[in-house]
Amino acid sequence: MTRFFILIVLTACSGTPVGGSSPCLLQMSPPRVLVRFGDSFPVNCSSAADQLKSVGLESPFKSISNTNGSFVYLEIPVTSWDVVSPICFINLISGEQCLQSLPVTVYKPPDSVSVSRPDGTGPVVEGQRYRTQVDIMNVAPARNLSVHCHKGSEVIHTETFEDKSLTPVNLTSSFFDVSTQRDDGTQIWCEAKQNFWPPVPNLPAIRSESHKLIVLYTPTFTEPDNETLQLSSGTKLLLDCSAKGRPEPVYSWAFPHAIQRTNQHANQSTLAPSIQLAGTYRCTASNSQGSRTKHFTVLPAERNHTTLAALVGGFVFLGAALFIAGLFFVTPQGTFSFSKGSYLKGQPASSGPV
Ligand SMILES: *[C@@H]1O[C@H](CO)[C@@H](O)[C@H](O)[C@H]1NC(C)=O
Ligand SMILES: *[C@@H]1O[C@H](CO)[C@@H](O)[C@H](O)[C@H]1NC(C)=O
Ligand SMILES: *[C@@H]1O[C@H](CO)[C@@H](O)[C@H](O)[C@H]1NC(C)=O
Ligand SMILES: *[C@@H]1O[C@H](CO)[C@@H](O)[C@H](O)[C@H]1NC(C)=O
Repeated sequence: MTRFFILIVLTACSGTPVGGSSPCLLQMSPPRVLVRFGDSFPVNCSSAADQLKSVGLESPFKSISNTNGSFVYLEIPVTSWDVVSPICFINLISGEQCLQSLPVTVYKPPDSVSVSRPDGTGPVVEGQRYRTQVDIMNVAPARNLSVHCHKGSEVIHTETFEDKSLTPVNLTSSFFDVSTQRDDGTQIWCEAKQNFWPPVPNLPAIRSESHKLIVLYTPTFTEPDNETLQLSSGTKLLLDCSAKGRPEPVYSWAFPHAIQRTNQHANQSTLAPSIQLAGTYRCTASNSQGSRTKHFTVLPAERNHTTLAALVGGFVFLGAALFIAGLFFVTPQGTFSFSKGSYLKGQPASSGPV
């Protein structure tokens, strides 16, 4: 083990040229490794040089050397987090030595991903900001992790981490979110993905449990806010005050006429008044978050209008008739007149007898 560490220090200091371009013609296969903690990985170190003295591989797990061939092969189990990259070395007959280390990334999927609200549990209030926290336990390496949080079919938060540590860490990600009544009943959940290139096949994302979002909101009417209706002889008057809200709204009604007041309509969303009269009806839907009032303007039945119009029309006609008659028989002076002058003019003025 000591020898291994000294070798690393030597490598760092001497800066010996490595790789196929050197006279050693060193080859390492694979050129880099991504391995899951607990698994093992193979490494083959070889040389195509003729003047080869030995090929060797140094690792904390085992060190091997071959003076009788052109390669060494080792399967290295990853059982510890202080994995040091294995080093391949070639010694030539000339005394020259070449070294190359194998870059190894060890990963570990998170043990768990959990979602919580630090400032309380239970329902949220529409329009208010809430902080949600995601805890990712025991994952490595941090910088290849991304967390994604979903609200229904929408992604509401994504984060990656700058943390450089290569050993397992606990990560926390948090975000603020505002919900509306449309979010009531949707699920919130987060997942952690490990992103590698090339991708590791069949590496599943780790999902948190889902939390059902309960959103408290002021009642809103399902039908238009105010309504104008007309009484008609054939149909029953129906006032629809249905509202959506959480908690479930309670209803109260106000009638235009005292005679209609009764307790039987308490907390009904839809009402068919037993005494149908015109006027303005009011309904209030309320819950812990607030209340809304809806006005129903109920107009008298069509028939009454026709009668009134006929009456008014009759009076107008009568007035007009009287007026026209007046034009024919009455002078501007207001007296009846006959002309007498013309009758007198027709006579000879003064003619004596001949
Ligand atoms: C190691 O690599 C050399 C050269 O490419 C090859 O000849 C040898 O078969 C490989 N050994 C193993 C065990 O893969
Ligand atoms: C992560 O959290 C768990 C539980 O709180 C703790 O036991 C563990 O030591 C933590 N790991 C690190 C790397 O801090
Ligand atoms: C891990 O993430 C870093 C930073 O995003 C990236 O450069 C590196 O290639 C990743 N590792 C692997 C094995 O894909
Ligand atoms: C409904 O009618 C009331 C009373 O006339 C009025 O104050 C209110 O603004 C109306 N609301 C809407 C949405 O038209």
